[in-house]
Amino acid sequence: MTTAAERLEPGESLWVSPGRVNLIGEHTDYNDGFVLPFALPHATAVSGTRRTDRRWVVTSEQTGETVTFDLADLSAKVEGWAAYVAAVVWVLREAGVDVPGAELNIASDVPFGAGLSSSAALECATMAVLADLAGLGGTGLPMRDRPRLAQRAENEYVGAPTGIMDQAASTLCQQGHALFLDCRSLATEQVPFDLAAAGLKILVVDSKAPHAHVDGEYAARRKACEEAAGVLGVAALRDIDVDALPDALAKLDDDTTRRRVRHVVTEDQRVLDTVAVLRAGDLRAAGPLMTASHASMRDDYEITVPQVDTAVRVALEHGAHGARMTGGGFGGCVLALVDEGACDAVEAAVREAFAVEGFTPPDTFVVTPGRGTYQVGG
Ligand code: GLA
Repeated sequence: MTTAAERLEPGESLWVSPGRVNLIGEHTDYNDGFVLPFALPHATAVSGTRRTDRRWVVTSEQTGETVTFDLADLSAKVEGWAAYVAAVVWVLREAGVDVPGAELNIASDVPFGAGLSSSAALECATMAVLADLAGLGGTGLPMRDRPRLAQRAENEYVGAPTGIMDQAASTLCQQGHALFLDCRSLATEQVPFDLAAAGLKILVVDSKAPHAHVDGEYAARRKACEEAAGVLGVAALRDIDVDALPDALAKLDDDTTRRRVRHVVTEDQRVLDTVAVLRAGDLRAAGPLMTASHASMRDDYEITVPQVDTAVRVALEHGAHGARMTGGGFGGCVLALVDEGACDAVEAAVREAFAVEGFTPPDTFVVTPGRGTYQVGG
């Protein structure tokens, strides 16, 4: 099978950015908290060649469409998948970059709409190509500054109020590692995550559940967290330590808000605990933390759906060390941490359970931590 990058004409500049899964730390990023994603082997490739005019001509292998926009279209807001490309042109210009017009070609191996950050992958690869064509290279626009720009593109141009995790993962992850990111300071640590050495696999189950109401629910969760932080007198929920949680909860009079806060505060602690066990080389010990994270997303944050709850339950019943939904929620994918020898049985059991429940058959695949944004050739 060819990769996305292999399917593109290289043009003047060709860059690849991956999708991601998040090992743990869900809905913590916009609360200034901690996340621990790793890059997928599945990636989006963008190739670009400068034009002499100030137009961007963008072709998607996936849809077969070509979308053209100029500066006037840019201010009127480009729609659809090309909005992610236009958003990056916009944000670079906002940052003072003289973005040249370009022919851009896109190919992707990141499943679309599965909560694996296909949009962040597109943004990050587009940014890399345009920065390169603008002559900025690696030092003119340092990799560490790009996630904030890509997040701003998504927040302000596309209009999705996401945190910074996906763009940071797609940009900064390293092969064989999970990325421990402090979403306030943007400090990072590459945490070794060698599944094979531990005799483990991560099985991904794409639940195929339709992503109903996801945008509105995501925005509602974010708003609830920000309001709760205001009531508690902190800049963000990150500022509430797990030991101070009972006191904080006692100050909130609404049960739903209490549960939202409890999820975020305990999830931050679970990220720290997971980082500690990975640093100690005890990968299996991440399992129970993953499972606790899922329970918290299901019961306190209320962002799971029957398909993902079923996948988690069945994976655990068939010997997974831990399992949880990954990503924004209301569908998307489940990660199961399994012994190498148990992977096939877990996969078969999940498929069987989906058939019994009458759910759309899931997609399943095994992943290892891939690399963040990189250039091909050049
Ligand atoms: C989506 C968002 C991220 C993050 C996750 C939940 O993937 O894009 O910023 O908030 O949901 O952890």
